[in-house]
Amino acid sequence: MAKILGIGNAVLDIIHTVPHYPHEDEEIRAFKKSITSGGNVNNSLYVLNQLGHNTAICSTVAADSEAKLLLADLKKRNISTAYVQKFIQGCTPSSSVTLNAQSGHRSIVHYRDLPEVTFDYFAKIEIEEYDWLHFEGRNLGNLPGMLNIAKTFLTNQPISLEVEKPRDGIEAMIPLANLVIFSHHYAQAKGFNDGHALLSEIQKITTHSNLVCTWGDQGVWYASPNGEVHHILAEAVNPVVDTLGAGDTFNAGLIHSLIEGHSLTESVNRANKLAAQKCRQYGLDNLMEVKHADKPLANIKQLSNAKTLTVNSGTRSVILIKHGDSVKAYLNNCPHQNVPLNEAYKIDVNPFEKTMKCSVHDAFFNIEDGLCIEGPCWNEALETIDIHIDDKGNIFLGS
Ligand code: FES
Repeated sequence: MAKILGIGNAVLDIIHTVPHYPHEDEEIRAFKKSITSGGNVNNSLYVLNQLGHNTAICSTVAADSEAKLLLADLKKRNISTAYVQKFIQGCTPSSSVTLNAQSGHRSIVHYRDLPEVTFDYFAKIEIEEYDWLHFEGRNLGNLPGMLNIAKTFLTNQPISLEVEKPRDGIEAMIPLANLVIFSHHYAQAKGFNDGHALLSEIQKITTHSNLVCTWGDQGVWYASPNGEVHHILAEAVNPVVDTLGAGDTFNAGLIHSLIEGHSLTESVNRANKLAAQKCRQYGLDNLMEVKHADKPLANIKQLSNAKTLTVNSGTRSVILIKHGDSVKAYLNNCPHQNVPLNEAYKIDVNPFEKTMKCSVHDAFFNIEDGLCIEGPCWNEALETIDIHIDDKGNIFLGS
């Protein structure tokens, strides 16, 4: 286990899951809403926690109600907030995220008017206590000073830098990091058509940094210091459920694997698989349950169209039920009060109307798509769990 400090933005994400992207002037109803903490570094730290590390974030919040929600969620994620700088003026950064359930892709509207972490604040942190420092490539007013302090006072601890967008002066920061991770947004904004072209150019300004460029479904390019640029294809994901935080998950997987002592090639491959796993599920919770994917949840012979079977997978409870010849799997969590549907009694099933009922306040859900058609959470839906069934009828997590 390593102690990791992430320096970047913590944001309150308000995520609406919608059946399709609305066009201008259209009003549509979201079937799922969640409010959670987001931001690149925050997401990466959350995944690193799940991978067994001890993390802290250095970020800023305002004195508003959003800050309370954000700090509470960071606490829930087990990310230390000891180094969150508080400002009296401004708003805690927030993002309005629209997640298209059809494609799993998202669009984000971000608002911030809050100052970034100041140099003086950062300079007081005992950074020597940490095994790894991960910086978001932003806050260019203070980033050079922060990176220079880190270079001066840290002898063995690696520094990573995420370069997501082009910003004035960011290129001068690249040689100060041991690992630099570029996004395709940065590469494209700089006029490059693939990661190979970008990294070959970046190698001219740094001789000792590991370089990585992620490019969504086109895969990842990477190069060791002065080494050749290599490419791996993206891990296949079908269907894509949710891409929000996939890049942050990749970064966490990469840092984790390098901390474990694996080569850059091995680490990129591992991170690629972890990012794909993230795209197969909503959100970042319980990401490591991929470890349980090789154990069957149940066998199809145990299921019927007239009753549900609830099984545990890691920390989650999953509802399984037959629907015609297919099998449906839902998270056992009622969207009304976020409690299991069988909290009060068993889950009643009506095989004629093809519905099942929450035992707490009698919300009825379609078995086919998990949508609430009657009750206090009307038009909200149960969270679908990806499953696949082998030729022996064993039901596994994952598509
Ligand atoms: S908790 Fe399920 S209907 Fe209220």
